[in-house]
Amino acid sequence: MKFLMILIFILSLSLVACGGDGGGSDEETNSESDADSDSDSDGDSDGDSDGDSDTDGDSDSDGDSDSDGDSDGDSDGDSDTDGDSDSDGDSDSDGDSDGDTDTETGGDGDTDADGDSDTGHKTCDNPATLKEAGECMEPPMLIGAAIGKLWGPIDPKCYGESRCLNTASAEHNYVTCENEMKWQVIEPNRGQFDFTEADAIVNWAIGEKMKVKGHTLVWHSQMSEWMNALNADETRAAVENHIVKVMDHYKGKLYSWDVVNEAVETSTNTGDSGAKMRNTVFYQRLGKNYIDEMFQFAHDHDPSVKLYYNDYSIDADNEKFAFVYDMIKGMVDRGVPIDGVGFQMHIGPPNNYKVTGETVSKNMRKLTDLGLEVLISEMDINMCGGQISQDTQLELYHDVVEACVKNSSCSAITFWGIDDPRSWLNNFDEAQCGGSGAEPLLFDGNFGKKETYKRVMAALTGK
Ligand code: XIL
Repeated sequence: MKFLMILIFILSLSLVACGGDGGGSDEETNSESDADSDSDSDGDSDGDSDGDSDTDGDSDSDGDSDSDGDSDGDSDGDSDTDGDSDSDGDSDSDGDSDGDTDTETGGDGDTDADGDSDTGHKTCDNPATLKEAGECMEPPMLIGAAIGKLWGPIDPKCYGESRCLNTASAEHNYVTCENEMKWQVIEPNRGQFDFTEADAIVNWAIGEKMKVKGHTLVWHSQMSEWMNALNADETRAAVENHIVKVMDHYKGKLYSWDVVNEAVETSTNTGDSGAKMRNTVFYQRLGKNYIDEMFQFAHDHDPSVKLYYNDYSIDADNEKFAFVYDMIKGMVDRGVPIDGVGFQMHIGPPNNYKVTGETVSKNMRKLTDLGLEVLISEMDINMCGGQISQDTQLELYHDVVEACVKNSSCSAITFWGIDDPRSWLNNFDEAQCGGSGAEPLLFDGNFGKKETYKRVMAALTGK
């Protein structure tokens, strides 16, 4: 009997000991109200368990750097954009501490690499405009629009049409110049800079209290011809001079920059296969680490603005995303100062259309698990060509915006224009429109709110 009692005592001791550490490291955090759970915003880097591997085939064969890189700590490489950060961005319920009418977003947010759960932005109930819906979120989200002055299918362009500008400033708080900051416009001849067109838009936007994203410093398209004639040293000097002059001109005025745009290509624009580094003048002359160099250079020159990589057809479960993810992860691992990745989100011909809310959500989560911000940077959904029906368009507008709302490190959504008739897609041959019919945006030709607007607003308010 005595022996039996001793045995029971020993057994119960060992059970207590097992229970003590069984939960394993970090898992336990998420139960206890995840006071700081959404760690993923601030560069924990850590557990990307799922990490790179994923990809498929192509891997980084020819592409992405993976070597040296430039040391220096990831200094700022993290989201934290929107002020208040995660003060409360966690664990929904109750919430409405602070004044305004808030409800919660889906609450069932995704689980990140650490097994923590991110419940996304907390949304509010009855905002009057898109920008108000973004401003009243916690953390806030910027709502942007591209404004064109120079190119576009009809005149006047948005900048010359007061109803277009009024709609832009009433509904948005973030602006991208559609064409006016591109190399071809800003530095048409070597060393000769012309900021007239971009300045007009930037000054208007600042006057309207909107933030501005610079678009774009390094891109193969809408590039000046004179760059083709340069050797490696001259190319490096020219691109550094371009970055310095342009960033200096806008110092203190811009919130962010698309530093490198569309550096990855695939066999077709849908991004399904054949992913590799795009064979641009920068890649040819400066080699595979040119992207690291450009970000480092931009950061050293002006550490106060956010620096983004921007690309299209990375919103689906495809080879292009896998390749871009590996490239970006390599940059983060090497300490390259990148703040985030823009998903252009031009859905429909000629780009990817096999996108769903889930694919967007999954791809965004992989990047935010690296400690980066993500943003939707050029959204429109093209109905020409027959791949996307009106119902699909409405569903996608809702679900893609919802994917951003449910990720607290998704910091902005920019639409590529205001009204349908002025959309670039109508006159872009590969978009298969032949002059009209893309109907890809949120406002019609009279600046009336379309059903697409309503679906976006629903998603921005957690519905
Ligand atoms: C487009 C403009 O909207 C058009 O007016 C111009 O003719 C071509 O460029 N990805 C980008 C944007 O990063 O700069 C492009 O803008 C659309 C695709």
